[in-house]
Amino acid sequence: ASALKASLAVAVTAASLAMAGGANAATWKMALGDAAGGTQYELGKTFASLVEEKSGGDIKVDLFPNGQLGSEQDTVNNASMGLVDLSVVAINNLTPFSPTVGVLTLPYVIHGPDDAKALTHGKIGDELRDNTLRDSGIRILGWAYSGCRRLTNSKQAVASPEDLAGMVIRVPKNEIMISSYQSWGVNPNPLAWSETFTALQQGVVDGQDNPYITIDAMKFYEVQNHVTDSCYVFSMEPLIMGEGTFQSLSEEQQTLVLAAGEEATSHSYDYLLATEDSIKKSLVEEHGMTITQPANDEKEWIAKASSIWPDFYDSIGGRDKLVEVLETLGRDPS
Ligand code: MLT
Repeated sequence: ASALKASLAVAVTAASLAMAGGANAATWKMALGDAAGGTQYELGKTFASLVEEKSGGDIKVDLFPNGQLGSEQDTVNNASMGLVDLSVVAINNLTPFSPTVGVLTLPYVIHGPDDAKALTHGKIGDELRDNTLRDSGIRILGWAYSGCRRLTNSKQAVASPEDLAGMVIRVPKNEIMISSYQSWGVNPNPLAWSETFTALQQGVVDGQDNPYITIDAMKFYEVQNHVTDSCYVFSMEPLIMGEGTFQSLSEEQQTLVLAAGEEATSHSYDYLLATEDSIKKSLVEEHGMTITQPANDEKEWIAKASSIWPDFYDSIGGRDKLVEVLETLGRDPS
């Protein structure tokens, strides 16, 4: 608790300095792990223009894409200490700081955008937001919905887990994802997102997974030729602000920031539905990637990866939490 207090104190100082330009004027910095374009950028850009409009131009938000302000996991730390005002990170990069959000990264729990929307709103969404605040001093203001994570590689078409034999796959530094790959017989290489393109380019790793829109925004087609149309994790990317920074805002500013986060989230959902198919098509037609369907309706992938769920019951808040999530999604949890 004292570490959190100390970090909130730093945050308040940083936020007050940021406000020094005028009575209410401020320019905030938003870190983005991804390149410009794509779902993180779209969420950030929408939030920025809503905040600027709602504050009558008093608050401006500058976007710093491409990991310029540090790796995604570093920016979570920095936001909690008030060293950066805002960041958009993939949920898997928030989990190490707030383990209960891991329920959103358990393999094959979330099947698509509607599941993602259901879990980021209502009782479960509120609870995950509260837990994140409690565990890491981070406030979730909104969500980017980025699509299913698809496996890419530079070697060969991959339809079954056995096709991965001998490949080195990059995974985020996230225990659930590391364990998922281990269930498929792969010993993955956990690397920060900011190091991933170079590692793929230099052949340090052969593959990785991320949504179609991210593969496109990051130009991974320059260094990867094969995509597997799998869906083991649906990528959700929270827009976060350190709680110290949030508490340093006036009540009116807090209200406008929360409203902008909600509106930007709803835009993100529409953006995904409107763009994912055409981006998938362009990866093939313009950038020469080949798309392989998982063999046997993905059954082997699903059976192996789902077998790791019990290993993470403790960290997500118990098996009951998963049961509640599955029931919320209208699935039979037995
Ligand atoms: C990761 O793979 O570390 C992230 O999902 C990448 C991202 O934020 O797009």
